[in-house]
Amino acid sequence: MPGDKSISHRALIFGALATGTTRIRGLLEAEDVINTAKAVTALGAPAAKSGDVWEVKGRGVGGLQQPDAPLDFGNSGTGTRLMMGVIAGHPMTVTMTGDASLSKRPMRRVLGPLKQMGLEILDDGKETLPLAMRGTRDLVPMSYTLPVPSAQVKSAILIAGLHAAGETTVIEKEATRDHTERMLRFFGADVATRPHDGQTHITVKGGAEMHGRDVTVPGDPSSAAFLACAALIVPGSDITIEGVLVNDTRTGLYTTLQEMGGDVTLLNLREEGGEPIADIRVRASHLKGVHVPAERAPSMIDEYPVLAAVAGFAVGETRMDGLAELKVKESDRLAATAAGLHANGIAARVEGDSLIVTGTGRVPGGGTVATHLDHRIAMAFLTIGLASDKPVTVDDTAMIATSFPEFRGLMEQLGARYTEAA
Ligand code: S3P
Repeated sequence: MPGDKSISHRALIFGALATGTTRIRGLLEAEDVINTAKAVTALGAPAAKSGDVWEVKGRGVGGLQQPDAPLDFGNSGTGTRLMMGVIAGHPMTVTMTGDASLSKRPMRRVLGPLKQMGLEILDDGKETLPLAMRGTRDLVPMSYTLPVPSAQVKSAILIAGLHAAGETTVIEKEATRDHTERMLRFFGADVATRPHDGQTHITVKGGAEMHGRDVTVPGDPSSAAFLACAALIVPGSDITIEGVLVNDTRTGLYTTLQEMGGDVTLLNLREEGGEPIADIRVRASHLKGVHVPAERAPSMIDEYPVLAAVAGFAVGETRMDGLAELKVKESDRLAATAAGLHANGIAARVEGDSLIVTGTGRVPGGGTVATHLDHRIAMAFLTIGLASDKPVTVDDTAMIATSFPEFRGLMEQLGARYTEAA
């Protein structure tokens, strides 16, 4: 599997904030991550590929420089929001821009807490890109309870906290992916995680010193999801996806597929670079509908479009609760998924923050799906087209390159056939 997107962004950013050189193996070379590599380069920490390895020449915490031009993050919410935490701790003025999808996404969730710490928004009151902001050397540490379960918001505050004088604490009610905490520790920052009254308190010490490291990026479970789901629904399939990250803040989809009766096995469990990885064997299976509880949402937030589509091949009702955050992804994924299901003859309804799919074991297909600049909507529906009665069409595939440029090639190796509509 190509490298995990979340870990790839963090390896570049923490490499830039460390002293010395960071070498990254298995970096995901997709548009979102390349935009982060360009951003750290523009901030004075050059990131470039040398042989098989990406190298970042770090500047140390607080040591980045004013860029000459606006930083363009393309389609990437993660790159944008994590970098806001970086800018907050530097006395420089930076303009951030993005594509049409990113320019609609909510930034107040990050800007609110970062402003409390000392970040200045030049066009105050504006909450979407393009945005100009000014950081400071005098960030104020704080304690902040996340109002939404978001690893991006948590990470932005912890990254800002590296630069503040004192301890910054983020309080999480629901566990979200913890790659920032793990990798900050690996780079030498002081990060403590402790349970308290059913919540988790994550504290970072300011004035941090981080040192360049060798990082190996594990395979992306959110991209592997498409291969796994393809294997489950195409009769006779038996595939093994090697070297996939199986951190339990990321594996909700695989648990759900097993509960649906999917033959999904984690093999050869091992650890690489402080993260658990495994090979995932998936065999075609008869699936049944299940209830996916709201508490599981953070650990599979990016996998709902493909799960919902695959639920059409299950027999019975699959009810997915707690999907509010899906509405603010690269598209309104709740609406886009429901529309794609309807277009392909799958019975589905949205009730508040829940999506309910009634599967019959067969999917008519034949529909055209509007992808709204959203890579995961495109890949989810191209996946179910492998087993639907009629082929499935998506209106755009360009965005797939933001997270998984190898998608088509890997699917074709497994036997998929695609045709380009005129
Ligand atoms: C990510 C966190 C999630 C996820 C995104 C990557 C990260 O977003 O949807 O694809 O790398 O921290 P939120 O934290 O906004 O839920």
